[in-house]
Amino acid sequence: MQTLIDGVGQLLTNYIEKSKKGEDKVLQQQPPRNIAEDLKAREILHSGFQDSQVALQFVKRYLTHTNHLKNPHYLGHQVAVPHDLSGIPDWIHGTINNPSSLYEMGPAGATLEGVVINWMLQKVGWFSGDDIYDFRLKAGAGSGFLTHGGSVANLTALAAARAAIAPKAWDEGNPQNLVVIGPESSHYSIGRAISILGLGKNAYRPVPVHEDETLDTTALAAVYEKACADGKQVMAVVANACATSTGLFDKLSTVGDFCEKHQLWFHVDAAHGGAALLSRQHAHLLQGIEKANSIIWDAHKMMLVPALCTAVLFKDARYQTNNFQQKGSYVFHEQEVVGMDTMPFTVECTKSALGTKLFWSFALLGEKGLEDFIDTTFNRTKEFYQLLEAHPNFSVPYSPQSNILCFQYLPFAQDNEKQMALRYALIERGNFYITSCEVRGQRYLRTVLMNPNTSLADCRDLLHEIEATAALL
Ligand SMILES: Cc1ncc(COP(=O)(O)O)c(C=O)c1O
Repeated sequence: MQTLIDGVGQLLTNYIEKSKKGEDKVLQQQPPRNIAEDLKAREILHSGFQDSQVALQFVKRYLTHTNHLKNPHYLGHQVAVPHDLSGIPDWIHGTINNPSSLYEMGPAGATLEGVVINWMLQKVGWFSGDDIYDFRLKAGAGSGFLTHGGSVANLTALAAARAAIAPKAWDEGNPQNLVVIGPESSHYSIGRAISILGLGKNAYRPVPVHEDETLDTTALAAVYEKACADGKQVMAVVANACATSTGLFDKLSTVGDFCEKHQLWFHVDAAHGGAALLSRQHAHLLQGIEKANSIIWDAHKMMLVPALCTAVLFKDARYQTNNFQQKGSYVFHEQEVVGMDTMPFTVECTKSALGTKLFWSFALLGEKGLEDFIDTTFNRTKEFYQLLEAHPNFSVPYSPQSNILCFQYLPFAQDNEKQMALRYALIERGNFYITSCEVRGQRYLRTVLMNPNTSLADCRDLLHEIEATAALL
């Protein structure tokens, strides 16, 4: 056992070092059949690892078929590039397997979840406990829990909005007239949640957005009035903090005031941008977030936590307790539990020790280290923007607020397919990994500076790489 542990540790150390130095390609994609053969998947399925050398060979081969997020040339999806030691909680929990949704199944994990939730509530301004170890659910006070990802979190929060406006929906099904209002640019998981909740996709009433994909708050009233005129009941108003495509923040305070005036549930999808609350320089982007009824906040995006770990936060604990009106006699013990169970409030029954993963980020870097991470990645994106602005071959449609930036290679600007082909050709070469998105019908290249080691020189190299790749198309 020790040989294997030491061996895997050494392989991971080498992997990290080589990735950080950019010695390996960021990504070298192979068809799945080639990978299965290279990993000897069939043989291992049949006979297992014959000895530790075979196991180590397997791990070595496995690591070659990965996307090297620690390479500074990784500027891809909004997936954390974790600290080198962020995997330790997964190792501990892969060994002891204490799910944290039932306190008695994982007291340490459940407790740390309570601690990090209280910390998040403090950041939003919703914490009213005696101290950070006060885990009581109190009517009228903020509450929350962790769940597996932003999509499940959005579903959970919108279900709570439904429980508030239509408490009988749980037993009797939805009233036929519920709608949700939000930006055209909301993440697809919002639409998916609405469909899963049985409202039907058309129950989403999109509010027009500006060219930069932020919600046009002046259009909110018209969409709301039209919904009312159509005999609809607005179940929730959604805002982005920030938009997935452009990384820009909706005006939360204005939307919050609108919701307050009309007594509407306000949901903030802060999957990506919630972590800006940590930053004294950038917290203003979330001004007004405290006016929300519900918030989701992904720690596996901007808090260096390996996937998955998302918080669902409620302004009033009653939103949480009234949500899923279900009993499971073998797990929901109500008064008798020593600590706190989150199982009654989550979509999932069994849940990983998510609080430990998030707590570990603080343990490794401290709150100041996490703040520095936000500021470094957001500020470097601004520098990258200036680089692009000054370059004759690129155009950028907006000034960034976060670490997400869309831009076009100008010679292909009129040709969405060519811009897209450029992205594929670029990642095929393996020297960089970036994404792409469509904003108002136009195809853009898209970078997300998730890696704290990505320097401005790397950004400059990316532009050279794009030009070199384009020359081959
Ligand atoms: C604004 C927003 N909401 C929700 C999600 C979904 O989060 P997850 O990937 O954790 O399900 C994303 C993912 O990028 C997002 O950007």
